[in-house]
Amino acid sequence: MIFEQVATGGCQSYLVGCEASCAAALIDPEISQIDRYLALAAKDGLRIRFLIDTHTHADHFSATQELARRLEVPVIMHRQSRAPFVDMRVDDGEMILVGDLRLRVLYTPGHTRDSMCLQLPDRLLTGDTLLIGGTGRTDLPTGDASALHESLFGKLLKLDPQLLVYPAHDYKKSGHSTLERELATNPRLQKRDRAAFIEMMANLNLGMPTHLTEALRTNMNGGRTVSQLLSEATAKVSFMSMEELKSRLASGEPGLLVLDVRERDAYIAGHIPGAKLLPRGQLELRVNQELPDPTRRVLVYCDFGKVSTLAAATLREMGYARAVALDGGMIAWNDAGYPAKPGAEP
Ligand SMILES: [Fe+2]
Repeated sequence: MIFEQVATGGCQSYLVGCEASCAAALIDPEISQIDRYLALAAKDGLRIRFLIDTHTHADHFSATQELARRLEVPVIMHRQSRAPFVDMRVDDGEMILVGDLRLRVLYTPGHTRDSMCLQLPDRLLTGDTLLIGGTGRTDLPTGDASALHESLFGKLLKLDPQLLVYPAHDYKKSGHSTLERELATNPRLQKRDRAAFIEMMANLNLGMPTHLTEALRTNMNGGRTVSQLLSEATAKVSFMSMEELKSRLASGEPGLLVLDVRERDAYIAGHIPGAKLLPRGQLELRVNQELPDPTRRVLVYCDFGKVSTLAAATLREMGYARAVALDGGMIAWNDAGYPAKPGAEP
């Protein structure tokens, strides 16, 4: 078996491959690491055949949907998952065959209603059901402390204590543990009485994950994250540095149209001299009047450089083949002490 563990902050993903057949499963992949997973699979001579989420993640962005599109392989989740892009739903006691490897599904609700663990001969991928020195929280949507108690004490912890534990989260960089070690040392497993366990879980007072709504929106409904939209737009346009723009403006470069896509009040407060105002929200509807020449070089800027990247990509899609985004924005422009002009342009 080939086994790779990839950490993204505290999130852990796993690439599990069969040496004989070169087939692999990728478990709990995270969106920012797509190139790393593909590179790892190539390095190990593996072909990713299955994408598996152990549950609906509320705290990071799953890459299963995006990778499924690129690799044309199925996304697997538990039967209880509501994500519309899941191709194969599995249930307790079933197995996923990855070449000669057998990934056994253990249904372990509690952290979420669709949580499952995956068992290999010597190890368990425990998702967020059992963590090293902790357990998944049960206060997010579909969480249930009583179900988690049953999943842990009624199922997972009854397995061979020598099984290695590889969780979906590990903030302390411990790598892995064993069931035996967790039973002995994991503070959350010391309350074995159901009522005491439920009370402990109800009183953890954890903060909400930073990207809760965006993660649930994308992981449950198959939407795109803001950073995905930005990185797709970034790949569609070229950029110009602030220094380059400043010197081109100073030399009075003919034909360069600078476009401010912020709101009018921001433009009036101070804009790059000579810039034309066309707020992002009106871009598509006013573009024919305001930018009649699609062959003109248009440099787009906003406050931070993000909205302008999206706007420049939209312009390219609309046929403005020379739309360029400023690498930076009005805030950095002002910080650099570059020329700015208040009021309207003539
Ligand atoms: Fe989770």
